[in-house]
Amino acid sequence: MQGKCAIVTGAARGIGLATTDVLLEMGWRIAMADIDTEELEDAAAARDGVLAITVDVSDPDDVRRMVDRTTGWAGRLDGLVNNAGVANFAPVEQTSFETWREIMSTNLDGPFLCTQAALPALKETCGAVVNIASISGLRASTLRVAYGTSKAGVVHLSRQHAAELGEYGIRVNCVCPGPVRTKLAMAVHTQEIIDAYHDAIPLNRYGTEREIAEVVAFLLSEKASYVTGQILAADGGFESTGVGLPALRD
Ligand SMILES: NC(=O)c1ccc[n+]([C@@H]2O[C@H](COP(=O)([O-])OP(=O)(O)OC[C@H]3O[C@@H](n4cnc5c(N)ncnc54)[C@H](O)[C@@H]3O)[C@@H](O)[C@H]2O)c1
Repeated sequence: MQGKCAIVTGAARGIGLATTDVLLEMGWRIAMADIDTEELEDAAAARDGVLAITVDVSDPDDVRRMVDRTTGWAGRLDGLVNNAGVANFAPVEQTSFETWREIMSTNLDGPFLCTQAALPALKETCGAVVNIASISGLRASTLRVAYGTSKAGVVHLSRQHAAELGEYGIRVNCVCPGPVRTKLAMAVHTQEIIDAYHDAIPLNRYGTEREIAEVVAFLLSEKASYVTGQILAADGGFESTGVGLPALRD
């Protein structure tokens, strides 16, 4: 048997790239899938054991091709990380239907389509899926009507998939990252938002890509062989705490 293989979507940079690296260190082969061909090709060229695939995860034909190319290359598929995502912060009244659809299509249609397309191959290996949602999918906040709702959908999609796919030995879990200084986050986080996050997070800082990737890799691995349907917040304690944190600090 050759080494295991996973598809990581949104692998050109950020959390997806860090996840690619952690899985490569674990001996997996990785199909790096992303819509940004240039950044993807650069990232893939610097790594061994990877296949770069340009894909729009919201396009059913693209997604089918992604899975076919991966299984043709590796001969198997053991894991899928639905990480590709886009963010938008805007008030309800200023969120156009076009923006709403754009966010939903990548963040929610994407994981639905990718998991469905990967199922035949995952059934053969009793593989695992990890979806990347967000703390914005666990707690409502201002400006996140589209982003937060799409991520809440990803949380529940993970449970739906876990409930139905367990009988094939396929595990499905969900990671909800807190803030990480990626291109996606920095495009929507002002200095005020950064300060507010620091105040609201018990560990008092942003996370790193690597800290999220390690959690994803654990859930994908055999070490989590009896874990499915779980929503794990990798968020420095944000989700578990209530109000008043800054006032109670020194
Ligand atoms: N950074 C954070 O603070 C944070 C917090 C919570 C959740 N997340 C989630 O983590 C995931 C990764 O985000 P990141 O912060 O690394 O952002 P990022 O912008 O650095 O990376 C996202 C990647 O997804 C790709 N992508 C976007 N749309 C795509 C599509 N339709 N098809 C294929 N690829 C597409 C982009 O080209 C990019 O390479 C996202 O789902 C995001 O919502 C991030």
